[in-house]
Amino acid sequence: MKKGKVQLGRRDFAKKIGGFALVSPLVLSSLISCSSDDDAAELSEEEVEAIIFEDGRVTFDLDILFSLTQEGGWLLVNQRNFLILNTGNDQFAALSSICTHTGCRDAWSFSSNILTCACHGSRFDTNGNVVQGPANAPLASFETSVENNILTVFR
Ligand code: FES
Repeated sequence: MKKGKVQLGRRDFAKKIGGFALVSPLVLSSLISCSSDDDAAELSEEEVEAIIFEDGRVTFDLDILFSLTQEGGWLLVNQRNFLILNTGNDQFAALSSICTHTGCRDAWSFSSNILTCACHGSRFDTNGNVVQGPANAPLASFETSVENNILTVFR
């Protein structure tokens, strides 16, 4: 746990977002979080509980998922096949994690606002546009919002 951070229980967090907190055990084994240093890291249990899956949206408590608040921070959410990218200036992008080349889903890295699929080297900008092939179609993007330090991805 990061020093100085307030830890919210699952029920408290559900109240904060005004919704129902549902985190299945599957979440623990299928989320991968990464940051700008390119080293993949598993989420802590506290961080997993800060992610709520609901119909049509996923919410992230940024008070707990502190690494996402840093420019270059990113997160792969396998359950809904998307990536969250912190693109700087408190802005986030949410893009499909299914590469438009041949469909790799979990070989991503993010650095200097470029998303790279390690399967065959395709590179995308933070809008999902191809900046280097072999992919020749953009990644789908999804709406995001931030309110009360809760990031919502509509996916
Ligand atoms: S599947 Fe991503 S570059 Fe080929």
